[in-house]
Amino acid sequence: MAKNHPGPSANEGNNRRDFLKKSTLITAIALAPPSLINAAENKLDEKIAGAFEKAPLNLEVNGVKHSLTVEPRVTLLDLLREELHLTGSKKGCDRGQCGACTVHVNGVRINSCLSLAIANEGNSITTIEGLAKADQLHPMQEAFIEHDGFQCGYCTSGQIMSGVACINEGHAGSAEEVSEFMSGNICRCGAYPNIVNAIMSVKKGGNG
Ligand code: FES
Ligand code: FES
Repeated sequence: MAKNHPGPSANEGNNRRDFLKKSTLITAIALAPPSLINAAENKLDEKIAGAFEKAPLNLEVNGVKHSLTVEPRVTLLDLLREELHLTGSKKGCDRGQCGACTVHVNGVRINSCLSLAIANEGNSITTIEGLAKADQLHPMQEAFIEHDGFQCGYCTSGQIMSGVACINEGHAGSAEEVSEFMSGNICRCGAYPNIVNAIMSVKKGGNG
């Protein structure tokens, strides 16, 4: 007696349909008139060129107004470091994971490696270079020195900017709360306890 063959499973059916769709698409592209392909290529070229075309940008950094032109792909961190030569903000990871690039934008801390410069039109930026007043260090800078809040120093500018924001943004109610708020700032030297002590001392002194 002849054996009945089972019909195609749902998966096999889907695979066949996908294959047919893809091969139809490939055939359609292969048969497209050259003028259509040229038009698509030109559009792509325009898009790529647009990504490099400089646009005007007005912003204030550490109290100084700047009128610049920047490529839309440039991050705020690269603008600060490479155009304005403010190299205190560090590039640790360039992907929002270490906090070494922390700055304040309109008083709120951000990772400057995650912000496009062009998105900061009209904003007021403060970097570590803008924290001290003339020869007088910011209390947070003094506290980091007093409490040994750093070793190699690579993360320190970001830690200090976050520490100031921690108090200003109301997250320094306890050492635990400070640790939580500061958890985006990585210190490979492991200076964490001293960093928390420094922030708490500024909070207690009431001069954050
Ligand atoms: S460099 Fe921006 S978070 Fe690491
Ligand atoms: S002091 Fe070295 S990474 Fe923090």
